[in-house]
Amino acid sequence: MDRRNFIKTASIATAAISYSPVVGAKEKLVPLLTGVTGEIDLNATKMSVQMLSGDPTDMLCFDGSVVSGKNSLLRSSPGYLGPTIEARAGDKLNINFKNQTGEDSIVHWHGLHLPEDQDGHPSYAIENGQTHKYSFEIENRAGLYWYHPHPHGRTGYQVYHGLAGLFVVRDEEEDALNLPSDENELFIVFQDRHFGKNNQLIYIQSGHDIMMGKIGNRLVVNGSFPMTHKVKKEAYRLRLLNGGNALTYRLQWSDGSPIHLIGTDGGLLEKRVELESILFAPGERLDVLVDFSSKQIDDDVELLSIPIVDNGNSQPFAIYQFNVGSEGKKQFSFPNKLSSLESIPPSEAVNENDPKVFSLIPKQGIGWTIDGLPYEMDETRPKETVKLGATEIWEFDLTNAGMIHPMHVHGSQFQVLERINGPYSDGLVYDGGWKDTVAVLPGDKVRIIKKFNDHPGKFLFHCHLLEHEDNSMMRNFVVEK
Ligand code: C2O
Ligand code: CU
Ligand code: CU
Repeated sequence: MDRRNFIKTASIATAAISYSPVVGAKEKLVPLLTGVTGEIDLNATKMSVQMLSGDPTDMLCFDGSVVSGKNSLLRSSPGYLGPTIEARAGDKLNINFKNQTGEDSIVHWHGLHLPEDQDGHPSYAIENGQTHKYSFEIENRAGLYWYHPHPHGRTGYQVYHGLAGLFVVRDEEEDALNLPSDENELFIVFQDRHFGKNNQLIYIQSGHDIMMGKIGNRLVVNGSFPMTHKVKKEAYRLRLLNGGNALTYRLQWSDGSPIHLIGTDGGLLEKRVELESILFAPGERLDVLVDFSSKQIDDDVELLSIPIVDNGNSQPFAIYQFNVGSEGKKQFSFPNKLSSLESIPPSEAVNENDPKVFSLIPKQGIGWTIDGLPYEMDETRPKETVKLGATEIWEFDLTNAGMIHPMHVHGSQFQVLERINGPYSDGLVYDGGWKDTVAVLPGDKVRIIKKFNDHPGKFLFHCHLLEHEDNSMMRNFVVEK
């Protein structure tokens, strides 16, 4: 299976080079915006990172610098993660991505709504040593987005080896809420890695990993191992990304407090919600408020991952720990109303009573698929074609198969309409607000509604369990003018 995919990938890469437009020429076709807010250089390079005691770990890392514009556009991040890009809605950015990974790569801005030539579709992959210039305007509202490579068949490998970073968007609606900020706003990225001999990363060796996803033997937080954070007796805003390849968590506070959720993938919710626990799948983001002001000095509060289904043999484990270290000054009361969200009425869809069904199924000899098909770089079926300006309802059908698939759709954010087997997911997932990745649970069918406004072209939808995505659980969709 590996070998066949390798040959297929290799032949696509060769084809791309032999009729040249894709690689070098494509760059020139991307028009650079004028009047940009800033310009950033972003390099993906091989690096040796001191992760554990003893030998450093060979990784791939983003590093970046601001060429023009405010220095605050980039914030260096701890550990191996790429720098955090922080911009405002409406900003125009030029980003020069230089590929020094030693293999083909391209960057995708996960969650941002962008034109096709800015989205990092694998057909835009550049070779080692080349640069791809991005130039785009931020159309999204405030939210926590992220960036990672997206070359076909190598996304999982490259992300796993360290290529990922946060992309924070701010706007006036969010500013007006005066949420906890600066040292009271914590960005926390959860990943897991399998460290083997000489502290080197171990990646995909078996068909098991391809089917089940690669799960590590160490949890990594923000690209290193700071599992405890000292806090004051104050309120904090936690911006969480599950940046892991395959591991889904179910979050809960160790002290029994509810999770105060204020936002998800596409930014703020309409109102704050209180949840006992919440599922957190690869690719998803959560925006959570927590108040330590009623704690005692030296109290520990843990963010736990509890068993997704209680089968008696898995135990809760702490994935992050807060230690109350000092008195606080700032008083903060949790807002209830956060934002006004338009919910897309199903009647607006061109297929209100006839959702496009995509079956998530394993196929002999291929692995996990959408509708039993492999990914083809240049192929789209009529079902995968959408009229520009249309609203459509899609259904991810996992009736017959047994593991969680976080389904991600590129382009604008969507809304979750319905889980057909709803009761099963009650108390497990929260589906409000704007989403770009939705966890489809075993036995469930999930309906989403999405507007295909603005950008015509070829985009992707796929499982964000990266071993599934790389193998064949990905398809194109085309928005046609
Ligand atoms: Cu975060 Cu197409 O992926
Ligand atoms: Cu994406
Ligand atoms: Cu999957």
